[in-house]
Amino acid sequence: MKNKKETVIVPMEEKHIPVLAELEKICFSQPWTYEQLYEELDNRTAHFIVAEADGETAGYMGIFVVCESSYVSNIAVFPDYRRQGLGKRLIGEAVRIALENGAQSLSLEVRPSNTPAVKLYSSLGFEEVGLRKNFYRNPTEDGLILTKTLEKAENKE
Ligand SMILES: CC(C)(COP(=O)(O)OP(=O)(O)OC[C@H]1O[C@@H](n2cnc3c(N)ncnc32)[C@H](O)[C@@H]1OP(=O)(O)O)[C@@H](O)C(=O)NCCC(=O)NCCS
Repeated sequence: MKNKKETVIVPMEEKHIPVLAELEKICFSQPWTYEQLYEELDNRTAHFIVAEADGETAGYMGIFVVCESSYVSNIAVFPDYRRQGLGKRLIGEAVRIALENGAQSLSLEVRPSNTPAVKLYSSLGFEEVGLRKNFYRNPTEDGLILTKTLEKAENKE
């Protein structure tokens, strides 16, 4: 495990994408590709951010905001940087971005078997609102739909 480094959150740029596509492959059975991530650079409803630790890409998060709803589509942290608060910080940024863009709720899907992610979201006040049958592939698994109601006060820290 690496020593804790100074971490900054920056908007995703083209230069980050090759490493993020690798992170996707490490984490997911249906990873987002370089091309899919690249397309979001020009999408006005998409907000993708990267956590850089001493200039190295440590993790990232992508959120879509449409009208009063927002949706976290991507979040991942490289194994060497996990359990250092980055996931929590990235979701905190998602809340800030969602509120800034007029959203009143933030939703996402997660595999029920993904204990680290489920614990992260429940610790941040996300609540289960539904289940998408067979949402995930390889292996097939339902998707838990979690939602957090956003309060303006959350953005004033
Ligand atoms: C889920 C993920 C983003 C969490 O990132 P992280 O930077 O390790 O998360 P944090 O350090 O901010 O953890 C915050 C809290 O989440 C929970 N948590 C995180 N990892 C955990 C684990 N392995 N086991 C149990 N709880 C865990 C804990 O409550 C933790 O607080 P604590 O460290 O004070 O106990 C990371 O594990 C990851 O990238 N996983 C692979 C990709 C993925 O599954 N993404 C989610 C798709 S829905």
